[in-house]
Amino acid sequence: MRVLITGGAGYIGSVLTRQLLEKGYQVRVLDCLNYGGESILGVLSNPNFEFLRGDIRRKADVAEALQDVDAVVHLAAIVGDPACAKQPQLARETNLNASLMLYELCQNQSSVKRFVFASTCSNYGKMEGSDYIDETAPLKPISLYAELKVAFEQHLLSSKTRGDFIPTALRFATVYGISPRMRFDLTVNEFTRDAALGRELVIYGEQFWRPYCHVEDLARACALILESPCDKVDHEVFGVGDKSENYQKKMLAEEIKRILPETKVKYVHKDEDPRDYRVDFTKIKKQLGFSITKTVPQGIREIVFVIQNGILHDPFNKIYSNISE
Ligand SMILES: NC(=O)c1ccc[n+]([C@@H]2O[C@H](COP(=O)([O-])OP(=O)(O)OC[C@H]3O[C@@H](n4cnc5c(N)ncnc54)[C@H](O)[C@@H]3O)[C@@H](O)[C@H]2O)c1
Repeated sequence: MRVLITGGAGYIGSVLTRQLLEKGYQVRVLDCLNYGGESILGVLSNPNFEFLRGDIRRKADVAEALQDVDAVVHLAAIVGDPACAKQPQLARETNLNASLMLYELCQNQSSVKRFVFASTCSNYGKMEGSDYIDETAPLKPISLYAELKVAFEQHLLSSKTRGDFIPTALRFATVYGISPRMRFDLTVNEFTRDAALGRELVIYGEQFWRPYCHVEDLARACALILESPCDKVDHEVFGVGDKSENYQKKMLAEEIKRILPETKVKYVHKDEDPRDYRVDFTKIKKQLGFSITKTVPQGIREIVFVIQNGILHDPFNKIYSNISE
């Protein structure tokens, strides 16, 4: 089975690439390498791996990438609220227009049977009340990033498709952990890097909740969708994470202090945060048997190890952030 991963050189994509290769899939990556291509150096010599440098906004690049493909995992995007706010036009073109074109081309190509879309729990915006929310909750996107994710997700879920084409949307929790394309603009990774280097943590809105999931587990969820029976995933949306892994930011700081007790933390209180939600991920667990393999404390330990052993030459390099200067 040949899988096309758009954005396969990115933080999640470079982990998924390796997982699928290990499982024996043929993997083709289409990526324009916004953050460089170091993440794929380790797989270039694998005979089951192919790389196409290209732009999902260009029809010719997409058509070439789709040749003889059985399934698509669509990760390529301008990722995160700040990156989309900074380049709104590029975000619209990439996250919505190009996604719609890719989706249409996939449906026109009979070899493509599965389509997995990386959506986000940011779609929920601010939760009403203090209970957990799940896939049935209303979507209240409060950023351009989430607005575009919601728009494509709704298109996918309501699309009339040929019978043997199975699309699925995954709402990822906020990700953390080690990847061949490291990111330090993600809360757990950033806090841990800073604490491991002896910096004081300055935390805004310490009381607000978010769900977190390790990058390897998010990638495993994509593979699980490809391998699940069609009737269980066809035109379905699943949150990806675990109910026990919802944290307030102050709880993340406490977990870091457990591992790095010297860490100094300063809280800057905010009464409002547009994103405040606790998510229940029972659907993917019950319907597909998904469970996480790593927790936030384990992710913190991995990052401490990387930083304290000098595995990254310059962890503050801007290639590790999607919020460019
Ligand atoms: N990181 C998270 O917390 C999180 C949470 C929810 C959802 N997601 C979604 O998961 C997906 C992957 O996120 P990530 O953290 O790996 O981000 P990333 O920025 O590391 O990876 C995105 C990749 O897409 C590529 N890309 C961007 N525009 C492109 C274009 N026009 N043509 C070809 N390639 C292009 C980039 O070069 C990059 O390699 C995204 O769709 C993101 O919205 C991420």
